Amino acid sequence: MTSLDIPFIRQQFPGLNTNWAHFDNAGGSQVALQVADRLTDYLLNTNVQLGASYETSVISGERIVESQRKMAKYLNAGSPEEIMLGPSTTMLLQNLSRSMENTLQPGDEVIITDSDHEANVGPWINLAKKGIKVKTWKINQQNFRLELDELGKLMSPKTKLVAFPYASNILGTINPVKEITGFVHERGAKVCVDAVAFAPHRQIDVTDLNVDYLVFSFYKVYGPHYSLLYGKKSHFKELPGINHFFIGEDDIPYKLQPGNVNYELSYSLLGVMDYLEGVYKHHWDEEASFSKKMKAVFALFAEQEEKLARLLLDFLSTKKNVKIIGETSSSKNIRVPTVSFLVDGVKSSAIPIEVDKHKLAIRYGDFYARRLIESLGLLEQDGVIRVSMVHYNTIEEVKALIKVLDHIL
Ligand SMILES: Cc1ncc(COP(=O)(O)O)c(C=O)c1O
Repeated sequence: MTSLDIPFIRQQFPGLNTNWAHFDNAGGSQVALQVADRLTDYLLNTNVQLGASYETSVISGERIVESQRKMAKYLNAGSPEEIMLGPSTTMLLQNLSRSMENTLQPGDEVIITDSDHEANVGPWINLAKKGIKVKTWKINQQNFRLELDELGKLMSPKTKLVAFPYASNILGTINPVKEITGFVHERGAKVCVDAVAFAPHRQIDVTDLNVDYLVFSFYKVYGPHYSLLYGKKSHFKELPGINHFFIGEDDIPYKLQPGNVNYELSYSLLGVMDYLEGVYKHHWDEEASFSKKMKAVFALFAEQEEKLARLLLDFLSTKKNVKIIGETSSSKNIRVPTVSFLVDGVKSSAIPIEVDKHKLAIRYGDFYARRLIESLGLLEQDGVIRVSMVHYNTIEEVKALIKVLDHIL
């Protein structure tokens, strides 16, 4: 079986060319060379306003459409109209809730979780001001999982939306999105999935998942600070616009994108696709459809990630004074390689500064999943210590980290 050619992979990321090991990928990944190439190309060659008849404006417009089409293909969405772009996941979800609030009635209910980043919590909690009831789906504190039984108890005929994460940026656990979505749909509500902590690691197929809304940020997926929100076409059509009054209600996703998209960043997303297709080409000779290529590439990533996670989790499990906050299994079907832990009697803030001395970039905190850290009672401890890996990390880097942690802990 083919395995990931790590030296080749690392050559695609100039930012890795330092003497630091980058273990803060859930905060932000390194950028693939191809992204910077696309960005520069746009800015230097076609940086004009879209929508005019002159040649460069036409080319520029085509470039943005090309990117939206490719993003739709990447997620297996029905059409580019289902792809909304914006500066951050936080902003896209704020915009979605701002539009959606006009479709909800006092007494309607939304469900949030206690394991989300605040980006997929705050906008829904704000709806309480309009008389909407907000309920919290809490994780089982023994196994750190969101359980359907619990969700079942919270749902009622008034539930309109369930917002939950594909994976938690602290726990690393992969939630069964397709199953949860089916469960929610059977009860007449919609789902909004935060895929930020999942997207760098696995392929996403919105049609197969049948999700209503799904969002993630490219600065964690080898790209720029820019984000994407998928929404079903029929939902986007029904949502009231939040753009200028003269933008038509059928003009999707534009009516939901006040201020329009960022042209150069939109175009640079194609660089992420170039990178992923380049990985395929490097490892396989035979041609394949785009989705088959993505499937093969993400399977390679998952293999590598599982090896990295196993090494670290096995080590942490041997330490009597360490508690892993999340799944102890390294299985690629169960978790992504975002590993959080606590050290008995030591504040989490005390560890990374020691590790920094060895040029190993890890960090501590609540990672804006403040409600999770609160509900686990970890505010006093300064949150968790988090080591977040992606496919370009190496076994040698993890071994170096283990050596240092073994000494410190
Ligand atoms: C799981 C998760 N959701 C949402 C966000 C917010 O993304 P953005 O910075 O694009 O608003 C983050 C950022 O760390 C995250 O980890």
